[in-house]
Amino acid sequence: MRKKITVIGAGNVGATTAQLIAKDGLADVVLYDIIEGVPQGKALDIAEACPLWDSSVFVKGTNSYEDTGDSDIVVITAGFPRKPNMSRDDLLHANAGVVKSASDAIAKTSPNAIIIVVTNPMDAMAQLAWKTTEFSCRRVMGMGGILDSSRFRTFLAWELNVSPEDIETIILGGHGDQMVPIPRFTTVKGIPVTELLKKSTIDALLKRTSSGGAEIVGLLKTGSAYYAPAAAVLQMVKSIINDEKRLLPCAVYLNGEYGIKDLYVGVPVILGKDGVERVIEIKLIKEEKALFKESCASVKKLIKKLAI
Ligand code: NAI
Ligand code: 2OP
Repeated sequence: MRKKITVIGAGNVGATTAQLIAKDGLADVVLYDIIEGVPQGKALDIAEACPLWDSSVFVKGTNSYEDTGDSDIVVITAGFPRKPNMSRDDLLHANAGVVKSASDAIAKTSPNAIIIVVTNPMDAMAQLAWKTTEFSCRRVMGMGGILDSSRFRTFLAWELNVSPEDIETIILGGHGDQMVPIPRFTTVKGIPVTELLKKSTIDALLKRTSSGGAEIVGLLKTGSAYYAPAAAVLQMVKSIINDEKRLLPCAVYLNGEYGIKDLYVGVPVILGKDGVERVIEIKLIKEEKALFKESCASVKKLIKKLAI
């Protein structure tokens, strides 16, 4: 039987994610939103593209959680995006209500699902989804590090005039301005970028990466990024549905790993059919540890505000 993936929120990220999943023929897709007509219209449009993509999956739009029942994966993108001069954290209270209501509904209708949280501030929203559903923490995770890494890879590829495919990197910590890139684990086909670029150049590219979301908000003015975010979600979905066991930076529950307890934050993990199959602990040097701790502290502040 074909797998079923529900995308909650039929806005920019949600609809683009649904489109990518359908195009790749990974699973049947249900697109849910509270606005009447929008998920139905976008789903119909995607369904009508499937013959052209040689994809035989079924795509449905809905305003009823009943239609999302027994999903294998649920992607939560519902909520508000930021506007210019807003940080992701400014969305905390507005989006907490949305994520909580979505999580309550998922727990009832898709009790065995794996949940991928996208809504910002994503790390805190992932923790909220986990608390609300009471699912195993292995089945609730957030998308952020893959997007941040992809931005850094893009900027490095432009600087070095090489294919971004050959660039590997890892970004840890919360999906916020205090993300923690690790240049010493950033390579071009295994060659550390620290041997190819001056520190000042790497620092400038890192600065652009950490404000990569804001750069796009500043250009769009009415919303935030969605093509790269949806592609990042697709990578997680693929690794789970196809049991690929990819090593990807995702926001997951830490219970002592990296010296952090009871907090969702970005670290490298292995993603497979059961969700987060393993947290990969890399040995951080002193400066990296300090940055990671700071990043965790800023996520913890949000959790305190939510009182969950
Ligand atoms: P959008 O405004 O285009 O779409 C949001 C959709 O959520 C709208 O269609 C809205 O009707 C729907 N919605 C609102 N309340 C709902 C509810 N209770 N149930 C179901 N649907 C509901 O926003 P966009 O650009 O798709 O972004 C969505 C979220 O994802 C934002 O919070 C944004 O900050 C976040 N985001 C996170 C990224 C990450 O890396 N983690 C990357 C990009 C966006
Ligand atoms: C981004 O990084 C808005 O979190 C989103 O583009």
